[in-house]
Amino acid sequence: MIIAIDGPAASGKGTIARRLAAHYGLPHLDTGLLYRATARVLLDRGERLDDAERATAAARGLALTDFDEDLLRGAEMGDAASVVGAIPDVRAALLDMQRNFAARDGGAVLDGRDIGTVICPDADAKIFVTAEPETRAQRRALELAGRGEKVDFTDVLADIRKRDDRDSARSSAPLVAAADAVRLDTTALDIESAVAEAVAIVEARRKG
Ligand code: DC
Repeated sequence: MIIAIDGPAASGKGTIARRLAAHYGLPHLDTGLLYRATARVLLDRGERLDDAERATAAARGLALTDFDEDLLRGAEMGDAASVVGAIPDVRAALLDMQRNFAARDGGAVLDGRDIGTVICPDADAKIFVTAEPETRAQRRALELAGRGEKVDFTDVLADIRKRDDRDSARSSAPLVAAADAVRLDTTALDIESAVAEAVAIVEARRKG
């Protein structure tokens, strides 16, 4: 079974994807890490994030084991990932890696922005996770504070809105719900309720 989870930053999609993977005993790929790791390579080399040729070479050079999440999870890396994610050749370079992961025996759970639309259009279940920007900014601010980063709520909200706009407006694989995705708004839900709803959505798809 392939489960595709998409949605904007801090919507809860990552936690929902992880918990669904544990629930069904499936491997999980957080595809945001691919874009974050690509951006990291460029920043470490002192190269520009919008240099399409170098960004594509960096994406091609990634291996799924390359990810030091501590280095990749920060706020700065989220924004940098969004910049390289807008480059069509970078997305093309990361396509096979994601599709190969999804094609594992037994299936997989993948989360990102274009899983249900581009990476796994035939996924067995697709969920588009949303939440109000202010709620997402509160969650992200708490998470960043927990990592010891200095946070200002207004800056976090502005960053979330900027990323939403960039990810939704790009020409290649923009952030959009697949026509057959079920929407899950987590604004008023705690994590346990959101996961329970996600499991119910997957079960309904399996039966249907
Ligand atoms: O899910 P995340 O916050 O880790 O993603 C960081 C950025 O990476 C996101 O703002 C846009 C880009 N991204 C993407 O373009 N496509 C994906 N499937 C996942 C992430």
